[in-house]
Amino acid sequence: MAEKKSVVDTMNELLVDEFTAINQYLAHREKLKLLGYKKLACRLKEHIEDERDHVHKLMKRILFLGGEPYMSQMKPMNIGKDVKSMLESDKKLETACVKKYNDAVDQAVAEKDNGTMDVFIHNLCEEESHLRYLMAQLKQIDEMGIESYLSTIK
Ligand SMILES: [Fe+2]
Ligand SMILES: [Fe+2]
Repeated sequence: MAEKKSVVDTMNELLVDEFTAINQYLAHREKLKLLGYKKLACRLKEHIEDERDHVHKLMKRILFLGGEPYMSQMKPMNIGKDVKSMLESDKKLETACVKKYNDAVDQAVAEKDNGTMDVFIHNLCEEESHLRYLMAQLKQIDEMGIESYLSTIK
């Protein structure tokens, strides 16, 4: 039977996801700035700052528990070619993160590791707020049409 995965392994998997998210948001932010969509670019900057804070919290906790944080791994990114596909790609990424953090909370509870659970819940709540924002943007595109929406994010 495979050895049971520890919360440190889970935190390292999440760390890889966080680095991937940071880089995807960075790429999208620069594309949006180039296209002149400053308001949306500005919001993505806030997401990047949150993701960096998630990395910091996970790293500190991994080190505290005697593990080694994975600092040089990343997954393939999905860079959107236009505003809508960027938002869809980021939504996909955040949806996966929310699921992983929820599973991670369950694991920390099962291992009676409340300190790690606290980190997971903190990050989870912020991923949910990122996801809510992205979903709201996509809903606005559906409701008002892409042309009108684009005029609101300049
Ligand atoms: Fe994050
Ligand atoms: Fe996020």
